[in-house]
Amino acid sequence: MSLTKDDAFIELKNHVEANEKSVQLLKWFEQDPSRFEKFTRHFATPDGDFLFDFSKNRITEESFQLLMKLAKSRGVEESRNAMFSAEKINFTENRAVLHIALRNRSNRPILVDGKDVMPDVNRVLGHMKEFCNEIISGQWTGYTGKKITDVVNIGIGGSDLGPLMVTESLKHYQIGPNVHFVSNVDGTHVAEVTKKLDAETTLFIIASKTFTTQETITNAETAKEWFLSKAGNPSAVAKHFVALSTNVPKAVEFGIDEKNMFEFWDWVGGRYSLWSAIGLSIAVHIGFDNYEKLLDGAFAVDEHFVNAPLEQNIPVILAMIGVLYNNVYGAETHALLPYDQYMHRFAAYFQQGDMESNGKFVTRHGTRVDYSTGPIVWGEPGTNGQHAFYQLIHQGTRLIPADFIAPVKTLNPIRGGLHHQILLANFLAQSEALMKGKTAEVAEKELKASGMDEASIAKILPHKVFEGNKPTTSIVLPVVTPFTLGALIAFYEHKIFVQGIVWDICSFDQWGVELGKQLAKAIQPELSSPDVITSHDASTNGLIAFVKKNNA
Ligand code: F6P
Repeated sequence: MSLTKDDAFIELKNHVEANEKSVQLLKWFEQDPSRFEKFTRHFATPDGDFLFDFSKNRITEESFQLLMKLAKSRGVEESRNAMFSAEKINFTENRAVLHIALRNRSNRPILVDGKDVMPDVNRVLGHMKEFCNEIISGQWTGYTGKKITDVVNIGIGGSDLGPLMVTESLKHYQIGPNVHFVSNVDGTHVAEVTKKLDAETTLFIIASKTFTTQETITNAETAKEWFLSKAGNPSAVAKHFVALSTNVPKAVEFGIDEKNMFEFWDWVGGRYSLWSAIGLSIAVHIGFDNYEKLLDGAFAVDEHFVNAPLEQNIPVILAMIGVLYNNVYGAETHALLPYDQYMHRFAAYFQQGDMESNGKFVTRHGTRVDYSTGPIVWGEPGTNGQHAFYQLIHQGTRLIPADFIAPVKTLNPIRGGLHHQILLANFLAQSEALMKGKTAEVAEKELKASGMDEASIAKILPHKVFEGNKPTTSIVLPVVTPFTLGALIAFYEHKIFVQGIVWDICSFDQWGVELGKQLAKAIQPELSSPDVITSHDASTNGLIAFVKKNNA
């Protein structure tokens, strides 16, 4: 049933519009001294507790209950159970959605078409462990007998963003080689990365689920050419190229030795693949034990997601608050603001995670939705964002719900922890300022106190007012560790899943990226053809003509 026809949604919308939309959320704090306790949730980990503070959101006990009722009505629990029991919920590709199997640390059997996938999952993990240990210990050597010092992950989308975000986030835990990433088909990317490298000590990881992605295969061929121009002998390739893929024949055709193949399966979505062999560059960088802790963290959240009642279920709460803003308040975007420099690619990672999953306009039954689905996800680490786009969040005209993510402890307590204290003070101040704003009375008082004359005050006062009432969720983690990062990623993955169920869309395919790929294949030969191209619209024909003329 369409979201907008669901009685639970109608009840929520009517309640919010009649009772909550025009209320300043600060009022709710004044009215209820226990608001913080009511709307916070804790999540314990071996590295310390997470705190999720939902209290600075536009929710009351009534709307919170109505959101939970909506989650029930949309079948969130049934769909969650369907995912965990390996039903083929990715029905447009006839696949199960089983990244949870890759981090199923309990090893309980998970059956796909009657076959337990866990022995295969564990076999590949064993292979990854052996490989990491050989690389890190120096037992694996390059063609001249030297230890591998640099690893280049060549992949794109999920075969790039996950490993990139996680290796950056966990750089502090590095015990293996440096890792570099080549994703863009722009030759500048591979050229700039290889410029700094020594072929004798470099290993290339070709990461591609399908092993047919044009960008990745082109970059991989270029890397092989670069390598052979240095090494000379093709037999050296085996020691310097490994592949991560579901497509073993294609990887072998590329020239990868079959024993240097790390396999995964079609039930692993690209944007959920860092838990699979695609995580090899992470494991090599931080060591396999740390990689396993990342899996452990995600598994702990999977258990929470499966077992916690809806009103305690953190991914469900994150998701339903997002639905409230998206579908009742009309918010169009959602900002992810990590107050941790290591996590500087976190928003970029979940841009794919969220927008490729929930950027859909057709319901699971094939009809057009009459409501908004996935938001535009964006963000930068604090405090950089503060000096760039926060102005618009504070005083612009749009409602921009934001998640602030900050670790209590820093991994770099330099100058007695001064930097971290300043960073945390900024995180706390921003979420407070967004909620409270500044009234004209307060602003006027401040201007008077600064000695400004009446005429100038009258002129400047409107510009000094902050309306406030800007909703935020604060996610405070104990410290960035493999476990806590694994947990954090899984919270967001399940949030996206829940929202897809509420919106009744298929969150697991990505047909929307296909059309551009098809057209690019047709245009590429036209760029080198001597003929005048007339087969497109006038704009595209004109652009092709301009590029050809000026690149002659
Ligand atoms: O962008 C589309 C997409 O299919 C993503 O879902 C995927 O992560 C990426 O391309 C890379 O695909 P592959 O791993 O098959 O090269």
